Amino acid sequence: MNIGIFDSGIGGVTLLHQAMVMMPHENFIFYADTAHVPYGTKTREQVISYADDAIHFLQSCGCKAVVIACNTATAAAAEQMRKKYTFPIIGIEPAVKPAVAESEGKRVMVVATPLAVQEEKLKSLVARVDNAHLVDLLALPRLVEFAERGEFVSDAVSAYLEEQFFGYSLDAYGELVLGCTHFNYFKDTFRKLMPEQVHIIDGSIGTIRQLARVLESKGLLAAPLSDESSKWKSGHGAANVKYYQSGVEVSGTDNLKDWDKLHERLEKMRFV
Ligand code: DGL
Repeated sequence: MNIGIFDSGIGGVTLLHQAMVMMPHENFIFYADTAHVPYGTKTREQVISYADDAIHFLQSCGCKAVVIACNTATAAAAEQMRKKYTFPIIGIEPAVKPAVAESEGKRVMVVATPLAVQEEKLKSLVARVDNAHLVDLLALPRLVEFAERGEFVSDAVSAYLEEQFFGYSLDAYGELVLGCTHFNYFKDTFRKLMPEQVHIIDGSIGTIRQLARVLESKGLLAAPLSDESSKWKSGHGAANVKYYQSGVEVSGTDNLKDWDKLHERLEKMRFV
């Protein structure tokens, strides 16, 4: 049986990648909703309807669980989807809690999409864990556009981020939370812009652990988790993954190579 992983686009490959590292014995179906990307500038109702279509599709593929590899869709739709479907639905949330715990009194910057920043789910998570009012939320919508056109490192990316961080005293920060799965492609640029003491954190590993816990509790986990920092081994055309773009299977060596390139980029970013 497969594990379904979906996102509006290529951001969710971040989670797929980490899942392939930690769960090499599982089979995956990755669904990128490229017909509707970006989600972060859409309404809540639109995102709920897109998520419903994606999960319905993954259900028809016989998935034993679905990971919403999108912070925006998790914030807007996870609760409703869990009421509708009977198989486990695991969402990714910005890693605000560990970031606050590790920040040692320094400020925490959470970057995400405009819709995720607006959603009650993120606001209430912050309210729960940020007793000392250290957390700032910042929307970075253009990064999703850059990512979807494969522009991961460029002067335009650096200039955009510099502009967005202008006015923040970055020296006051201890943690940067990547609250959108698309943002992992830019980790090297974030690293360059942030002072050395800033630790960059995202929710991928925590989400895969949660997925494993849920599968295990239902007797559906194929094998115990592998080490989270193992190197990614699967190469081109990995037999245990199928890719779909809004319901259409990606096929052909050239097209599959594009997905491999994303994994190669993410593999580098894991160790930045
Ligand atoms: N990758 C998604 C997230 O984690 C959404 C990006 C978008 O489509 O705006 O929020």
